[in-house]
Amino acid sequence: MSADHDAVSPVAASNAVRRVYQHAHGRLVACCDEASARSVVSSSCRRRRPALHWRAMPDPLVRAMRPDEWDAVAELIYVSTNAWYAARGAGPIFTGGPDVARLFPETYEALDPGCTLVAEHPRTGRLMGSCFHHPRETHVSLGIMNVHPAYFGMGVARRLLRAITDDADARGLPVRLVSSAFNLDSYSLYTRAGFVPRRTYQDVLLVVPEGGLPHDAPRRAQVRPATLADVPAMVALEEELTGIRRGGDFAHFVTNSQGIWHVSVLEGDRGRLDAFVGSVAHPGSRMVGPGVARTEDDAAAVLLAELDRHRGHSPVFLVPVDAAGLVARAYAWGGRNVEMHVHQVRGACPPMHGVTLPTFMPETG
Ligand SMILES: CC(C)(COP(=O)(O)OP(=O)(O)OC[C@H]1O[C@@H](n2cnc3c(N)ncnc32)[C@H](O)[C@@H]1OP(=O)(O)O)[C@@H](O)C(=O)NCCC(=O)NCCS
Repeated sequence: MSADHDAVSPVAASNAVRRVYQHAHGRLVACCDEASARSVVSSSCRRRRPALHWRAMPDPLVRAMRPDEWDAVAELIYVSTNAWYAARGAGPIFTGGPDVARLFPETYEALDPGCTLVAEHPRTGRLMGSCFHHPRETHVSLGIMNVHPAYFGMGVARRLLRAITDDADARGLPVRLVSSAFNLDSYSLYTRAGFVPRRTYQDVLLVVPEGGLPHDAPRRAQVRPATLADVPAMVALEEELTGIRRGGDFAHFVTNSQGIWHVSVLEGDRGRLDAFVGSVAHPGSRMVGPGVARTEDDAAAVLLAELDRHRGHSPVFLVPVDAAGLVARAYAWGGRNVEMHVHQVRGACPPMHGVTLPTFMPETG
């Protein structure tokens, strides 16, 4: 899940880091001492109890979200995510009220109208869960999945996911997503459904000073804002490096009708691009990504350019753990690790080359 730390001050940002660190630390200790190991086992037993209860409940109705449900889905995302983290002693991921999570239905419906699924309680009509997905040319991407805390552990997410994988199977397409490595509920949901982790990322939070970032990279000066004319080259670069195509998303970011997106590009030879990365600036998500780069130096150049647009804020970006040079740069810039994520694919996965810089909003896949 996305850790959105739109903290204006370094103090607030470091508090956000500390909250996630405490959460991560708690997890690590839990794996190492016997009492905690027992509590992990008993918590997995506790998970089975609702399953018995579930048998008495009728199946949720899985259907497309209606236009009049954007606020209800935003509230579900807000409550579900914050409750999950609060139950594990971590601070809220979303702050400022449920309206901040309207970013999700607004963006996903702008990209792919009618693709948001909800699970409705068949007797009460209450929303039990929601999930976003996008059928693209090469694959289906899966966005944020949420279940209302009242229905955690009752198979609601599994049913939403099944609807999406059935649709992908019918289209003959793989399904791709990026999921938290700390959240075993979502990690297991996906791996049980046949997803395979392919790449691991560390989520880095960087406090960008009001005066800008005092750092440089070899080709930083060649980076410029993207225009719509760059979209075909962005699509070609991503397809060359990762084998996926999603030109509609890139056109949406560059057009920026929501006023929250920006994209930077680094030109190469013969009209090709060597790197690009976007970013979103919204109270519901402040992240740098998605993007790809041929080399770690090229990734550093576009990252610095895009991060610098978030002066006075603390954006999060994801770095592949095996991009050792880029990881070292991120530390040198003052970055702090706040989470870990895994790129998961169900079905065919072309090899990934270069540097991938994924995001959750919208998901990279
Ligand atoms: C993650 C989340 C969506 C899961 O929803 P849910 O409805 O509680 O999940 P389900 O009950 O459908 O369980 C999914 C499957 O994972 C399995 N599972 C869960 N934890 C597991 C573990 N530690 N090991 C193995 N399997 C596990 C469950 O048994 C279930 O499989 P089964 O039905 O075949 O037994 C829900 O906890 C949530 O909304 N969390 C907050 C938001 C969030 O973190 N979203 C995901 C990131 S985007």
